[in-house]
Amino acid sequence: MQLFKSLQELRAWRDQQQGRIALVPTMGNLHEGHLKLVDLAKQHADLVIVSIFVNPLQFGANEDLDNYPRTLDADCQALAERGAHGVFAPQVSDVYPRGLAVQTFIEVPQLSEILCGASRPGHFRGVATIVAKLFNMVQPQVAIFGEKDFQQLQVIRLMTQDLSLPVEVIGMPTERAEDGLALSSRNGYLSTSERQQAPLIYQTLQALAAAIAEQRVDQEVALATARHQLESNGFRVDYLELRRQADLQAATADDKELVVLVAAFLGRTRLIDNLQFAR
Ligand code: PAF
Repeated sequence: MQLFKSLQELRAWRDQQQGRIALVPTMGNLHEGHLKLVDLAKQHADLVIVSIFVNPLQFGANEDLDNYPRTLDADCQALAERGAHGVFAPQVSDVYPRGLAVQTFIEVPQLSEILCGASRPGHFRGVATIVAKLFNMVQPQVAIFGEKDFQQLQVIRLMTQDLSLPVEVIGMPTERAEDGLALSSRNGYLSTSERQQAPLIYQTLQALAAAIAEQRVDQEVALATARHQLESNGFRVDYLELRRQADLQAATADDKELVVLVAAFLGRTRLIDNLQFAR
């Protein structure tokens, strides 16, 4: 496996390649969920490039940019064992040479402003911008993203469509621990007791989705019950919403493809999860 630490090295390699290339964009500190993205990428391409870049443009002023875990050596070892062909781990100065304040950006309207976008202003602008840049740098035919960040996946799909980028965007179902907690690099921030509490997020989503799908109770009552379940167990709920899958707008009675999405703090750690279902 090759490690490209600059855009120049990556481009020199990329110019020589003929086969189909898959990109798996990450911010590193890889876990089994990321490695499953690599497995899926291998099914769709001859060569798999994993980018590892903690993107400052998608972090808010009070967020965990400085403390975000950076584990490049361990990540490269895991990726080599998993059969990735290359890792692209550029420096911030290589990606944003003119500085963040004057960087040209991409914004996907509406979808970027709701849910996580409302709580994290500018976050999806940073995501859309870096993903478009990575698409231009790596020039993959296909790119794989986890469905745990469901809103991010939909933002990237719309961005790719709106800009006519020649990249097929594929979503991969969320990888979970045995107790149901969605795998995330941020799970490492949880204390032992918080880690024991955390699976309640997924259990709550499962009960909520079932109640709505089976139309057992009014959906507002189901949402209030689910929120109460989390709040009475130590979570601070940022949002807990029922939306339609395609554009994450409020679901009407006619919408069949639905998703429940949650963001909640456990201590200082903000956890997100979602569950797609049909009714
Ligand atoms: O999901 C992530 O890890 C990041 O948001 C991404 C897609 C790599 C962009 O920085």
